[in-house]
Amino acid sequence: MTYAIIGSGNLGTALARQFARNGISVCIANTSDPETLADLARELGDSVTPTTFRNALDADVLILAIPFRAYTKVASAMANWSGRIVIDAMNARDLTPEELDGRESTELVALALPGAKVVKTFNQLPANLLGSDPSQDGGRRVMFVSSDDVGASTVISRLVEQLGFAPIELGKLNKGGALLRFRGPLVLQNLIKYS
Ligand SMILES: NC(=O)c1ccc[n+]([C@@H]2O[C@H](COP(=O)([O-])OP(=O)(O)OC[C@H]3O[C@@H](n4cnc5c(N)ncnc54)[C@H](OP(=O)(O)O)[C@@H]3O)[C@@H](O)[C@H]2O)c1
Repeated sequence: MTYAIIGSGNLGTALARQFARNGISVCIANTSDPETLADLARELGDSVTPTTFRNALDADVLILAIPFRAYTKVASAMANWSGRIVIDAMNARDLTPEELDGRESTELVALALPGAKVVKTFNQLPANLLGSDPSQDGGRRVMFVSSDDVGASTVISRLVEQLGFAPIELGKLNKGGALLRFRGPLVLQNLIKYS
């Protein structure tokens, strides 16, 4: 399984840090030359490889860590997303009810990426917590996962677990995803699971 993070700001860097901590290889891209990420790669070590946006699209699992509205730019890069899992780690802070049209923001992302299996996760913690050790007080920091695709939810829950978090699957986007929307009840809770 190959992984790429699209976006190298607060969230993308926090995720890259977590992949590096666990020795899982990941590519990371932003809007500019990979050389702009050389310092980050030096700091995080061999697990993290800067790449171009175009090359990042080849990964089996893509993590969108970009401002929400930029998903349309990512979507326009490929007509067919079959074979890829796309993680929406974005918070749609300023979408109007008209834009949402009764849907969850991750459902909009899924509609824009035909063929992709879209999973919502990694959006619910602030970047400083997301990038720090998930082991806390003898337990593990909880990470909620939601998707319309059961198989993709399982695969990404396994990744979440490999990164050290305690995954909790919430089911489909119109129910579970709703709990993870910006200002949703499970966002910024920083829950710990003991087991
Ligand atoms: N910050 C948090 O604590 C936090 C927590 C949970 C969720 N989130 C969500 O995570 C997302 C990113 O937030 P952030 O705070 O990390 O933002 P940020 O620091 O401003 O970083 C945004 C990154 O996205 C990249 N980007 C923008 N458009 C792109 C495109 N079309 N293709 C490739 N890369 C693109 C930017 O590239 P350049 O560097 O080249 O400009 C930048 O690296 C948002 O949706 C936010 O709601 C943030």
